[in-house]
Amino acid sequence: MKVTNAFVCLCSLQPEKMKKIIIAIDGYSACGKSSTAQAIAKALNYTYIDTGAMYRAVTFYFLKEKFVSLTNDKEIQKALSEITIDFRYNDKTKLNEVCLNGVSVETEIRKMSISNSVSEVSAIAKVRHFLVAEQQKMGKKRGLVMDGRDIGTVVFPDAELKIFMVADMQTRAMRRQQELFEKNQLVPIEDIIENLQKRDLIDSTRAESPLRKATDAIEVDTTFITLDEQVEYILQLYNSLMIKLTKI
Ligand code: DC
Repeated sequence: MKVTNAFVCLCSLQPEKMKKIIIAIDGYSACGKSSTAQAIAKALNYTYIDTGAMYRAVTFYFLKEKFVSLTNDKEIQKALSEITIDFRYNDKTKLNEVCLNGVSVETEIRKMSISNSVSEVSAIAKVRHFLVAEQQKMGKKRGLVMDGRDIGTVVFPDAELKIFMVADMQTRAMRRQQELFEKNQLVPIEDIIENLQKRDLIDSTRAESPLRKATDAIEVDTTFITLDEQVEYILQLYNSLMIKLTKI
C-alpha cells in the first residue's frame, strides 16, 4: 500500500492537536471493506477491528466445537458465556488475527462452511448483543477503524466518519473467488454468487440491527476503483474532517 497524497497532506496538521476518532465502514460482503479498513488503520496508526471475523468465530464455536442448536436459547446463552474473542498480532502474517478463547481461528473461519452459516448465527439477537457490547468496549479509547454491517447504525452511531461500501455482484464474487484462491480454496463463481445473495438477503432483512446505510454515511461504490483509490478517497474524507474538527 503506497503512502497516499491525502495522508502526506494530513501530516502537515499538528498530530498532537488531532483527536482520535472512530471510522465506521459498513456494507455488503466482499465490497472491499476489510482491505480498505486495514489500510486506513495502518496509515493512521489506528486499531483495526474486523467484526465479521467475530461473528465468524462465534459461528465456528457454535457449529464446529459445541454443536449448539440455533433455536435453543439456553444452549446459545451457555455457549456465549464460554467465549472470549480478541485480536492478536501475528508476526508471520503481519495481520491482526481473531482468537477464540486465546487460539487463532483465522484460517478456519474463512472456509465456505462457515460463510454458509454465519448470517444465520449473526441474526440471533443474543449473539448480536454479546458482540456489540464487546465491540463497544474495544472502541472506548477511539482511534479505531471498525468494519461490519451495523457499525455506523448500532455499535457506534456517534462515529465521526461513516462509510457505506457497495459494488456490483459480479465484481464482489470475483474478488471473493480470488481471496479464496489465495487461500488454496477453489470455489466455482456460481457458488460464491449464491452465498453472497443469500447472505445479503439475511443480513438486510433480519429483525435485529439489519444491514442498512446510516443516514449520515458516505456511500463509496468500489466496482470500478482500485483498493488504492478507495483508501485515498477515504483518507481525503478523514483529512477534511480533521481540518474541520481541529478548527473548532
Ligand atoms: O464481513 P464478513 O463477510 O466476514 O461477515 C460475515 C457475516 O457476519 C456477514 O454475513 C454478516 C455478519 N456480520 C454482521 O451481522 N454484523 C457485523 N457487524 C459484521 C458481520
